Amino acid sequence: MQIYLGSDHAGFKLKEQIKQHLNDKQINIVDCGCYEEVSCDYPDIAQKTCLEFLKDKDENSKVFLFCGTGVGMSIAANKIKGIRAVCANDFFSVKHSRLHNDANVLCMGARVIGIGLCLELIDCFLTHEFQGQRHEKRVKKLEKIL
Ligand code: RB5
Repeated sequence: MQIYLGSDHAGFKLKEQIKQHLNDKQINIVDCGCYEEVSCDYPDIAQKTCLEFLKDKDENSKVFLFCGTGVGMSIAANKIKGIRAVCANDFFSVKHSRLHNDANVLCMGARVIGIGLCLELIDCFLTHEFQGQRHEKRVKKLEKIL
């Protein structure tokens, strides 16, 4: 399992903190930038990170994207086929994005939440599995939307 991380300048510091946390837990990281706190464009980073992730065939691999709100990253990520990105900064949404939507990308806002909540939301995202059953056909329909 690998975790793909991406941020713009607004999410950079939070990404670095999360990277440290995941490294401490000996989880494999692929850092897709940005690599310094200099203004950059979230669509570029979302695209780069998600395309790297889609090459990975391990279904346990996931993506975490950070910008000011998480919103721009999620809009950009959801334009890519095979990506099911959620912008969520609360437990209920994060948990159910895995259970019901089989979300593979979690986008969070560095100007919305702090490091403590962010770490717990990441653990929540990584420890909940897609429930399948009635949700299966709905997720399949997502792939058919042009
Ligand atoms: C950058 O200022 C900010 O617009 C960006 O990080 C993000 O919040 C967009 O959705």
